[in-house]
Amino acid sequence: MSKPPIRVAVTGAAGQIGYALLFRIASGQMFGPDQPVALNLIEIEPGLKPLQGVVMELDDCAFPLLTEVVQTSDLAEGFKGVNWALLVGSVPRKAGMERADLLGINGKIFVGQGKAINDNAAKDVRILVVGNPCNTNCLIAKEHAPDIPADRWFAMTRLDENRAKTQLAQKAGVPVSEVTNLCVWGNHSPSMYPDFYTAKIGGKSAAEVIGDEAWLKETFLPKVGKRGAEIIGARGASSAASAANAVVDTVVALTTPTAPGSFTSVCVLSNGEYGVPEGIITSLPIRTDGNKWEVVKGIQLNEFSKEKIAASNAELTEEKKVAFEALQG
Ligand code: NAD
Ligand code: LMR
Repeated sequence: MSKPPIRVAVTGAAGQIGYALLFRIASGQMFGPDQPVALNLIEIEPGLKPLQGVVMELDDCAFPLLTEVVQTSDLAEGFKGVNWALLVGSVPRKAGMERADLLGINGKIFVGQGKAINDNAAKDVRILVVGNPCNTNCLIAKEHAPDIPADRWFAMTRLDENRAKTQLAQKAGVPVSEVTNLCVWGNHSPSMYPDFYTAKIGGKSAAEVIGDEAWLKETFLPKVGKRGAEIIGARGASSAASAANAVVDTVVALTTPTAPGSFTSVCVLSNGEYGVPEGIITSLPIRTDGNKWEVVKGIQLNEFSKEKIAASNAELTEEKKVAFEALQG
């Protein structure tokens, strides 16, 4: 007998990331080759017509695992009974903007979505926020969903982790699979800290294998931190396929047991781990049994790492203040 479907809401389903993401969910790449899925696709009114076209294409793929597709601009209908809510829909930045500049535009979207998830989603719902600035948007949605436990809320830094791994692999001249234990700490913004001191290449310290701290500090860090802007500059639009890929990677990482000694980067609500201020959604090293997750303990951070992490988290504390003042005003 086949399993009951996992119901997945995707907001902004007719957008760039949506177009790269839906087919991967429906084909089984997110939840596995024997797990049926139902898609609840949420768009604003002007997005509903293009969404029809995307749904025609989903139909035309004849995915055996796809049991149902709901198309709606009604949040209650869209989040009804969902086990996962992937909050992508929002405005992307343009060249010359920082992601935080989107707070005033996108922040309020997450108030209504938080409430609708609270009132309509399945009891086991987990939420991944992608729309920028994703950390603070996630906090806004969480604050408006009082019935949903805090450990169900995630924002995405897996794209930054993947970017950082590739940069290190290319510098070291090794396959990217050799790079492990790469934690991105802090905000999904240029202040993020991809921790090259903790990372490993072929099981050895990445910093020692690279052997060039000046390159790591002065080239690698800004390269990863500003990669999103670099892509906007080249493509004229923000990253989409790689972002969708990171959404798949994040959900897979949170729903399958983490390999021993390893971890993944996800933004979660801080409880003060590693001296991070409590009450912000910040990127931390996470491991899981596929259901319950925990922040990995015992990572030794040197002064340089501590300063970088503190600076990124100070930025998040300020973003939180600005966002919540704006929502009240
Ligand atoms: P896009 O403009 O191509 O698509 C966004 C879609 O969202 C549009 O179809 C739009 O109609 C829809 N939308 C807007 N407001 C909505 C709402 N209130 N409810 C439902 N749908 C709504 O943008 P995109 O390239 O798909 O990017 C989406 C977001 O993801 C942006 O905020 C972007 O900055 C962010 N992003 C985050 C990461 C990350 O790593 N966290 C990576 C890439 C992009
Ligand atoms: C990215 O990192 O590519 C996204 O957050 C989009 C952006 O604005 O940089």
